[in-house]
Amino acid sequence: YVIGIDLGTSAVKSVLVDQKGTVIGEHSEAYPLSRPQPGWSEQNPEDWVKGTLTSLRRLMEGTGIEASMIDGISFSGQMHGLVLVDSEGTVLRPAMLWNDTRTTAQCRRIESTLGPKLLEIARNRALEGFTLPKILWVQENEPELLSQAYQFLLPKDYVRYRLTGDYAMDYSDAAGTLLLDVGSKQWSAEIAAAFNLPISLFPRLVESFESTGTLLPEIAEVSGLLPTTQVFAGGADNACGALGAGILGEGRTMCSIGTSGVVLSYETNKDLNLEGKVHFFNHGEKDAYYIMGVTLAAGHSLNWFKETFAADKSFDELLNGVDSIPAGSAGLLFTPYIVGERTPHPDADIRGSFIGMDSGHTQSHFARAVLEGITFSLRESIEIVRESGKEITEIVAIGGGAKNEAWLQMQADIFNASIVKLESEQGPAMGAAMLAAYGSGWFSSLGECADAFIRQAGRYTPNPEQATLYNELFSLYQEVYGATRELN
Ligand code: XUL
Repeated sequence: YVIGIDLGTSAVKSVLVDQKGTVIGEHSEAYPLSRPQPGWSEQNPEDWVKGTLTSLRRLMEGTGIEASMIDGISFSGQMHGLVLVDSEGTVLRPAMLWNDTRTTAQCRRIESTLGPKLLEIARNRALEGFTLPKILWVQENEPELLSQAYQFLLPKDYVRYRLTGDYAMDYSDAAGTLLLDVGSKQWSAEIAAAFNLPISLFPRLVESFESTGTLLPEIAEVSGLLPTTQVFAGGADNACGALGAGILGEGRTMCSIGTSGVVLSYETNKDLNLEGKVHFFNHGEKDAYYIMGVTLAAGHSLNWFKETFAADKSFDELLNGVDSIPAGSAGLLFTPYIVGERTPHPDADIRGSFIGMDSGHTQSHFARAVLEGITFSLRESIEIVRESGKEITEIVAIGGGAKNEAWLQMQADIFNASIVKLESEQGPAMGAAMLAAYGSGWFSSLGECADAFIRQAGRYTPNPEQATLYNELFSLYQEVYGATRELN
């Protein structure tokens, strides 16, 4: 058996998986998030460690599996969060998370200092959520603290350090720091020097499936595992989500709809230049990459709509009516920019809209328009991937958006691609388990592991009439951003 640990923003989830990829048990432990000032978002790294150990212990107790049967464990982690430790390994300040937006000034500083070098080396634009802007914020606001720092780590790397005593960071997570030369897989001495950051601050780089040692004896004791258990580095949550959905081959693409929405496509060309329109990160597979577009409020838009206008209904009740509304919601169009947008408009200030309201529209028209608007937004990311020369004819759907039949068909029609649904979907935790399985030598490649672990459960093909209609509406949708930008 292997264990995959998904260190998320609201909870840590551990899954225990057998050699066929069947989930034998799972356990989640929640932890708090603090917002001490507007835009700030922090967590106490100690809460991650406690949560991880408790989830491992409960998982082992719950399944009753012998500790000696666990070949290895690995991680998926929330990306970008900054953890600073001193030479004793003591955490110097609360972790600043990926959804902390206090760093707009630092992003401008990065762009003006590095100019085109940023995209050339780090392959991504400076966004508030990424790690370098957070390090610069500490440099400017808490300089004494940065001078005490011995290493900077990302969330799962800190937890792994506490479990093994070893400092390391894998390429897929390092790619989200803006400090990695993504193409050559080395820390960028040039970017570090531009901001006076000592290279000694940067941890050793490893592959996601590489072993980073075994469990410390005291950790083994509290987690119910053996001190001989191998701990594999693990990867960024999006890289692990990709592994868990089998996105392991040129052009393979997934669409994940959770609170936010992600379109992610496998890439082998390290020189692909999409001008920073989408993220470009290292994959969990050796020397592979992925490109990724993000809709900030995907499921969040639907949740907001339900809470605000249909609080008395369950999601199923709200979405039941959607099937009887024609494609295009009888002229009603929604843009999901309710908390700003990332792809293709990196714009924190834009806000959403309903356009074309008619006195005949019902709640179901609005619910359908919300689903369509979210899906149009994700199509914008898919079009960027297509513009890079990829033919996307099949997309794996995961997350909340894969749980509703009408929405799955809508994705097929709006994306103009077949949509594949998976049998038992565990998201990034399964990707982490796959890294442990491959790292343990169960398979000769991650692709072979995916073939053994991942099973398809259904396929939705585009309805030509609806696809044509949605194509026209998509052009209208794309005009709304420019037309409403001045309103905000
Ligand atoms: C990716 C990103 C999020 C976090 C969530 O750029 O910010 O997907 O990884 O954990």
